[in-house]
Amino acid sequence: MTGWEEYTLIQKPQQLRKISRNHAVPLSYHLGLLGMPGFTAYCGLYELCSPKAGEFVFVSAASGAVGQIVGQLAKLEGCRVVGSAGSATKVVNRRLKISFSFWVSVNWSWIVQKNCCRYFPQGIDIYFDNVGGEMLDAALLNMRVKGRIAVCGMVSQHAVTDSGPGIRNISNVIVKRIKMQGFLQSDFLHLYPRFLDHVTAHFLAGDIVYVEDVDDGLESAPAALAGLFTGENIGKKVVRVVPPESRNSMN
Ligand SMILES: NC(=O)c1ccc[n+]([C@@H]2O[C@H](COP(=O)([O-])OP(=O)(O)OC[C@H]3O[C@@H](n4cnc5c(N)ncnc54)[C@H](OP(=O)(O)O)[C@@H]3O)[C@@H](O)[C@H]2O)c1
Repeated sequence: MTGWEEYTLIQKPQQLRKISRNHAVPLSYHLGLLGMPGFTAYCGLYELCSPKAGEFVFVSAASGAVGQIVGQLAKLEGCRVVGSAGSATKVVNRRLKISFSFWVSVNWSWIVQKNCCRYFPQGIDIYFDNVGGEMLDAALLNMRVKGRIAVCGMVSQHAVTDSGPGIRNISNVIVKRIKMQGFLQSDFLHLYPRFLDHVTAHFLAGDIVYVEDVDDGLESAPAALAGLFTGENIGKKVVRVVPPESRNSMN
C-alpha cells in the first residue's frame, strides 16, 4: 500500500493499525498469521464455510500465506483436511511435514486423474479455493451435496492471456446445491479483534505453526513477488527491508 521503500511517511493515522506486541509472537507474523492473510483464512473458513467436525476440507495452495492457516484452523475444528501444493519439493519439504498437522499433496495430477476418491471417499464438504481454474473445476466435480466453496483467490488466472477452456463443471452447483461465494477479507473487518484473540491463543498454545519464506533486502522484492506466480515460495513470502546493522534490535 505504501510502495516498496525502506521508510514511509504516512499522514493519515487511520491507515495504520497499532500492534499490541507480544514478544512470543515474531513481529513479521503480523504480516501473515496475525495479519491480512490469516484474517482472510479466518473469514473465508468460518464466515463462508461453517466447518463442522468430521467434514472433508480441501485447500489449494495449502503451503502459502493463507492456505496453511485455513488447513490448521479446519483441523482444529475436527475436520479431515487435505491441502495441495504445486511441487514435489514442497510436499517433501521438511518444514512443511513437521509443521503442518494436515496433509499436503501434489497439485493437479491426483485430484484430476484419481477423481479425489483416495483422499475424499465421500467427496469434499468444503473447498477453500486459492487458485481457481482447473483446480476449481476438479473440485466442483467432487463436491458433496450441500458443499461450500469459499472463492478466495484465482492465482492461476492472473497471467492467463487467452480465455482457455473455462469452468466445465459449474452445473454441479445446482445438482449438489453447493454454496459458492467469493469474498474480500475487508468485508469482515469488524471481526478482526475476534480473529486476533482466536488465532493468537491457538498460536501461543502451540496448536498452530506458521511457515515463512524470508528474503533479505528490498532489492529481492521483485523476484519474491514474481515467485508467487510460479509457486517458488514455501510459506508466507516476506521481504525483510531492515538494513543488516539494525536487525539485531528488530526483535
Ligand atoms: N479474497 C481476499 O480477500 C484475499 C486476501 C488475500 C489473498 N487472497 C488470495 O488468496 C490466494 C492465496 O494468497 P497467498 O497470499 O496465500 O499466496 P501464496 O499461497 O502464499 O502464494 C501463491 C501460491 O499460489 C500457487 N500458484 C501460483 N500460480 C499458480 C497457478 N498458475 N496455478 C495454481 N497455483 C498457483 C502457488 O502455490 P503451489 O505451488 O503450492 O500451488 C504459490 O505458492 C491468492 O489467490 C490471493 O490472491 C484473497
